[in-house]
Amino acid sequence: MSRRRLFGAAGVAGAAALGVSACGSPEGGPAPWERLRGTVIARTDEVPVGGGTIVIDGKIALTQPAEGDFKAFSAVCTHAGCTIQEVQTTIHCLCHGSEFDVSTGDVLRGPAVEPLEELPITVANGQITLSEDAPAR
Ligand code: FES
Repeated sequence: MSRRRLFGAAGVAGAAALGVSACGSPEGGPAPWERLRGTVIARTDEVPVGGGTIVIDGKIALTQPAEGDFKAFSAVCTHAGCTIQEVQTTIHCLCHGSEFDVSTGDVLRGPAVEPLEELPITVANGQITLSEDAPAR
């Protein structure tokens, strides 16, 4: 496993071990995924069906709600800007407990009230690539 990919609950311990800051402002500066535009961010077999994983250095939550249906969302929590650390059956921010839908990024449980931003991806040959069209700040 590369340092840039941390998976599911294992991502929590991995992030702590790497000294990754969990909190920060969602405003200002380039979006964390901008430098990953046009690059492969994971293999499809690294994303569990019905759950997902976190690409920690790009702050991207990758999910596979159903077999072969991949989604990517900003892993910057819309509540207070923590980097979301866990994807199981929901995208779960451990800072204050918000949960988001793995299919839509919609809020399932607060305190967050805004959905996660969906990021465009392409899937080919077992690889997930962040689109060149990923939004900028
Ligand atoms: S920053 Fe995510 S729930 Fe508060």
